[in-house]
Amino acid sequence: MSRLNNKHIILAISGGIAAYKSAELVRLLIKSGAQVQVVMTSGATEFITPLTLQALSGNPVHQHLLNPQAEAGMGHIQLARWADLLIIAPASANVMARIAQGQADDLLTTLCLATGAPVLLAPAMNQAMWRDQATQKNLQTLLARGIQVHGPAEGEQACGDIGAGRMLEPSQLLTALAAQFNQGLLAGKTVLITAGPTREAIDPVRYISNHSSGKMGYALALAARDQGAKVILISGPTQLEQPEDVIFVAVESAQDMLKASLKVGSTADYFIATAAVADYRPAQASEQKLKKHNPAHGLTLELLQNPDILATMSKQYPGAIHVGFAAETQDLIPHAQDKLKRKGAHMIIANDVSNTSIGFNSDNNQVSLVTSGGVEDLPLLSKQQLARQLIVAIKKISHKASIT
Ligand code: CTP
Repeated sequence: MSRLNNKHIILAISGGIAAYKSAELVRLLIKSGAQVQVVMTSGATEFITPLTLQALSGNPVHQHLLNPQAEAGMGHIQLARWADLLIIAPASANVMARIAQGQADDLLTTLCLATGAPVLLAPAMNQAMWRDQATQKNLQTLLARGIQVHGPAEGEQACGDIGAGRMLEPSQLLTALAAQFNQGLLAGKTVLITAGPTREAIDPVRYISNHSSGKMGYALALAARDQGAKVILISGPTQLEQPEDVIFVAVESAQDMLKASLKVGSTADYFIATAAVADYRPAQASEQKLKKHNPAHGLTLELLQNPDILATMSKQYPGAIHVGFAAETQDLIPHAQDKLKRKGAHMIIANDVSNTSIGFNSDNNQVSLVTSGGVEDLPLLSKQQLARQLIVAIKKISHKASIT
């Protein structure tokens, strides 16, 4: 169940082109089980209609500070008290300035003063406005008051400029909101997980891959999320539904998976490699579809070895806890112990894939936990049950490695 279930969220929208993204944020919040009240400044209504937000949130939109009708229903003080969380997205330069000054001249700024709930801001503005000294000074004032500021992201802007000023994507904001209700074994920790198979292109229509379903990695992502972690799931192509409240990065090849892992690796407290990475890739992927020519001739593909993602990550980010899997058909424990050393991991979760009732496509799994301290056998469990137990086991290693 999402951490946002039944949480009371006020989404305040100020005037800016990014206001259209806030409609998607409302949809995601409702899907996560949150109750949402939307507040709009008059500027915001120039960009998106209150009716859209009303339809998505299931509640009338609050627009005025002293509207007798609204005050008779849920007045501004009740609204401020109702909130578990207040997010202002997009937050324009003007709104940031007004909140920094402690103004209370409209509903949005008044709520910021009146609420006891955490306040989050998702700035969105032109890159020059963001960089301007006045905005940066306001930012420092807001941070000093304990207001959280998420973003802005860098990139191409609606005005044609390139730079910092884009509002974070709704899914990123959803993750930031869910993280406010963190409780559990991994609260405040970031868990990076690779999952699924990789696909190594032969030509535009053919590839080398394997039967990995991704189920174990996705189950671990949910278990880590439910224990309060921020989860980044880097997944090869699978048939599984993208987990909610998890940052999801879709990749195809082993090289893409490595690149995506390295990019966010510095933020991770735990790296869990569940992906069945293709060991080899064609030396050269043909740009055109390969055609059959001489019926007497076969096709010889030259294959190169792929980088080892787990080994690379443990070398590059030695401060994190690294966990791998070993699917073996014989000599399970010696092979797992060898991988533990070779890949610089803290734990290898070993399973015997010669047994078809467990492993790859199965819903169940039976594993042994191999660490430098010894081997622990777990019973046959569903992948969901196993994922929950593994999170507890992985958290214990971090105690030993004293990164609590
Ligand atoms: N792994 C990885 N990158 C690779 C290969 C494997 O990160 N290029 C990770 C897997 O995600 C898994 C662990 O390493 O957590 C062991 O995977 P496995 O395929 O069993 O290991 P290999 O090194 O490929 O060994 P083998 O010679 O048995 O194929």
